[in-house]
Amino acid sequence: MADVPDVFDPRAYAAGPPYAAYRELRDRRPVAWQAEPEVLGWPAGPGFWAVTRHADVVRVLKDAGTFSSTLGATQIRDPDPADLPFIRRMMLNQDPPEHRTLRRLVSRAFTPGRIERFEALARERARALLTGARDGAEDGVVDLVADVTDDYALLNLTDLLGVPPGDRGLLLEWTERVIAYQDPDEPPVRGPDGRPVNPRSPAMLAEMFGYAQELAAHKREHPADDIMTSLAHSRLADAELEMFFFLLTVAGNDTVRSAAPGGFLELARHPRERGMLMDRQVPVDTAVEELLRRHPPVLSFRRTAAHDTVLAGQAVARGDKVVVFHASANHDERVFGDPHRLDLARSPNPHVSFGDGPHVCLGAHFARLQLRVLHEEALRVLPRTELAAPPRRLVSNFINGIKSLPLKVT
Ligand code: HEM
Repeated sequence: MADVPDVFDPRAYAAGPPYAAYRELRDRRPVAWQAEPEVLGWPAGPGFWAVTRHADVVRVLKDAGTFSSTLGATQIRDPDPADLPFIRRMMLNQDPPEHRTLRRLVSRAFTPGRIERFEALARERARALLTGARDGAEDGVVDLVADVTDDYALLNLTDLLGVPPGDRGLLLEWTERVIAYQDPDEPPVRGPDGRPVNPRSPAMLAEMFGYAQELAAHKREHPADDIMTSLAHSRLADAELEMFFFLLTVAGNDTVRSAAPGGFLELARHPRERGMLMDRQVPVDTAVEELLRRHPPVLSFRRTAAHDTVLAGQAVARGDKVVVFHASANHDERVFGDPHRLDLARSPNPHVSFGDGPHVCLGAHFARLQLRVLHEEALRVLPRTELAAPPRRLVSNFINGIKSLPLKVT
């Protein structure tokens, strides 16, 4: 449909989420058909419905009976049908009741006590990284991504999982392959036909799965207070454990790697609001919610219609792809007053950055803790910061990634 703005092309996201296009869709065509042409060597797809209003996004996410995570999995691009049975072993790509059973089992590893015990370690790490960056700044400029937030997210996750220090680099390499596949800085691995190989296919993941089994065996011998120890001692089958390890390394790393610099970027652009945070006029945890609303790390998730239905007046046929856009829902004027204003004290703040419904983020508590602690320490270590140059963004319609954030620290 020529008169409907495009919100699919990942290249457009290099300049930030397309807010003007989202707004036009919300106002004129809240459930809008999007073409899916070949982009960056990835084959064309059949197209999908883009859902941009908050109420409709929440409805899609809550109604798993109509909008399935299993039928075509959860990425915009269709998986190779041969890979589908494999991809469906991941909890993210399951529907109730299977999903419920698996989620209940793995949730036990995420005890609030375990997450809270983590706070002191995260704080020490935040302080060390921020101080190191400040003291090593060349001409007073730090790249917050390279110097602080990439390591912070990865090291926190590997500690929680129980990955030994020597193996952390491996994890980073694996998650980058999966997430950055649309980005020209990350050349895809190509198959014999010259086409990029799907980074979520069994072939690409074999190495990571072997590692997950080795680590679980190690944890059975040497139990510790970490997630892999809990999983290794649970009723999870081997294949479920491998898949959950994969899900955690991707879901728990790139999201925080996006949220942390995204929040600092917002604060650097809003010195007055940052001043309010410095003066403790706003609690840091309230501010973190607003930073997550303004910079949602996840840009889209896909469902597939399980039967014919109607969404916001639009007929959707069984088998159609339905994609929700979190950054659009978070800026819906129907829910948020003055949505493009950074209001650190905003309350209530029903953003959907962690999703909603049965798949709502399992790591939200852990993510919030990491972000709160990082901002608290940054207010102490880097009291004055300003943007030294524009940030560089990831080319992706899935993760709202920031690849570099040069800040002047004075
Ligand atoms: C700011 C950081 C984070 C954001 C914005 C975020 C966002 C999300 C979203 C939107 C979903 C829903 C997916 C869907 O609708 O299909 C989700 C699911 C999930 N997240 Fe997060 N996430 C974050 C951090 C984390 C962390 C740190 C972990 C783990 C250590 C984690 C683990 C998971 C898991 C396991 C799921 C799947 C839940 C299920 O399928 O039932 N996330 N996350």
